[in-house]
Amino acid sequence: MKILSSTSRIIFSLTLLLAVACEPKKEKAADDHRWWKEAIVYQVYPRSFKDSDGDGIGDLKGIISKLDYIKSLGVTAVWLNPIYSSPNDDNGYDISDYRNIMKDFGTMEDFDALVKGMHERGIKVIMDVVVNHSSDEHEWFKQSRSSRTNPYRNYYHWWNADKGKPAYRYSLFDVNHDAWKYDSISDAYYLHYFSRKQPDLNWENPKLRQEIYDMMKFWAEKGIDGYRLDAFQFAAKDTLFPEFPKEFEKDFVKYYAMQGNLHGYLQEMNKEVFSKYDVMSVAEGAGKTFEDAHNLVDADRSELNMAYAFDGVDIAKPEGYSLLKFKNTFSKWDSAFAAKGWISIFLANHDQARMVTRFGNDKPEFRDASSKMLSTFIMTMRGTPYYYNGDELGMTNIRFDKIEDYRDVPTHNEYLYQKKNGGDLNKLLERLKFDCRDNGRTPFQWDRTANAGFTTGTAWIKVNPNYTTINEAAQEKDANSCLNYFRKLTELRKNNVALVYGKYTLLDKGNEKIYAYTREDNGEKFLIVLNFSDSNANAAVSVDANTKAVLFNYNEAPVIANKDSITLRPYEAVVYKF
Ligand code: GLC
Repeated sequence: MKILSSTSRIIFSLTLLLAVACEPKKEKAADDHRWWKEAIVYQVYPRSFKDSDGDGIGDLKGIISKLDYIKSLGVTAVWLNPIYSSPNDDNGYDISDYRNIMKDFGTMEDFDALVKGMHERGIKVIMDVVVNHSSDEHEWFKQSRSSRTNPYRNYYHWWNADKGKPAYRYSLFDVNHDAWKYDSISDAYYLHYFSRKQPDLNWENPKLRQEIYDMMKFWAEKGIDGYRLDAFQFAAKDTLFPEFPKEFEKDFVKYYAMQGNLHGYLQEMNKEVFSKYDVMSVAEGAGKTFEDAHNLVDADRSELNMAYAFDGVDIAKPEGYSLLKFKNTFSKWDSAFAAKGWISIFLANHDQARMVTRFGNDKPEFRDASSKMLSTFIMTMRGTPYYYNGDELGMTNIRFDKIEDYRDVPTHNEYLYQKKNGGDLNKLLERLKFDCRDNGRTPFQWDRTANAGFTTGTAWIKVNPNYTTINEAAQEKDANSCLNYFRKLTELRKNNVALVYGKYTLLDKGNEKIYAYTREDNGEKFLIVLNFSDSNANAAVSVDANTKAVLFNYNEAPVIANKDSITLRPYEAVVYKF
């Protein structure tokens, strides 16, 4: 081996040093700084946000017309629900062409203009990627179902009828809860965990996987900044379809999530797509255990950046929920990810009813305070906040009386299922008023003109009649509105990195009305005290007259009862900085 001269040795070492220094630092610990950890994600539900052409359906041009509004909120990223071509069985979650825009929403030119407009305003764009299933109107499925020997047959899961009926699989959306649908064309059953029009894609087929990665790259090349993987925890399957225990559907996530080679597929996706662009990735669903969730998001595994778990939102029930459970759940998730990995924080999205109705109190006397209190919670926890459009106004559940008013496919199917099986339909209707996701999908309330300024036509789903009092225009004019309070919160979070990465410590643990915690980082310390109840409540926390209340949702900060406690009014929220 040639011996290096001392000069070349120095040059060699310098080059090595430089190469090491330039290599992007691999994120490991929870407090390694990353843009997607510091992001404030605002979820736009395109169908209900703003209609530009009077057809009653929100669209991309509508969103473009509201970009300055979105920017004014102080959010830094927007997650768009699916905007691809779709026959709309499940509001766009049934995609018939992954590389085109849904006609109702506009054109690819509109999409490009939307991304440009977001980027000009410093806002990142996150796309919904729905690849556990496609639409049955996708060309792949049309080919696949046409014959048993079609080259696309293996893009989906088929069970030939000559083998008899396949083992029962529960469908979340089907009218009979049956995930196998018989198709006479090829005398076989196909699998659909969601509706019949949403056949599950076969991730075990490498050709299908490659098609998906290419499609994802197509959008990355267009300049998008992240992906939200819809229902992906269910994508891998044991294609032998063994029998599951009786009543497995009561705990179906255990049988459906994180199966087979799911992690392998995610690592492949990371290598093929995520690693090639500066994009973030978040999965819907985090499995059953913290270990599952870690396996998805620990950086050294090169899969995803974060996932969102349902434990927090699942606590709210029509019968009520306990704050102790709520605190316990969020605290457990925080501590499981304190050292490694990263989580997302949310209380609502397009699959949930309105946050204020479920976790706060939407009676006129409490709506404003409790909306602000819940927003304070989301914006001061560790994890990336995902904030659902309309919550910044304190929009509430619409509470339809009649099944005909609902638009949601699984809601109608469940109604039919219960009807057929002698269920209590009135009880179901009552429950839907509280937790049906259509409550979160009513049109955004822009102003007090007809249809809340959402459309000049007939809205695809009824507008909440309370738009005459709860609307953006009115709240713009009111310095103390929910909307302006939300802006203060985003400002606070963006200016204080301790609220993003800082250590979380729960205080006054056994208090059934108060949620109090501190966030600390590098000598910066915040104390957040939230009254989740409709009456006065004492919080066992120590502040004194010199402690600065940096944000609060009443006109003045709470009363300091004594050196070890403060008294909060109904749904009062306060953020102190030490
Ligand atoms: C996810 C979506 C939901 C959709 C379902 C089927 O849960 O968030 O809206 O209905 O997947 O795609």
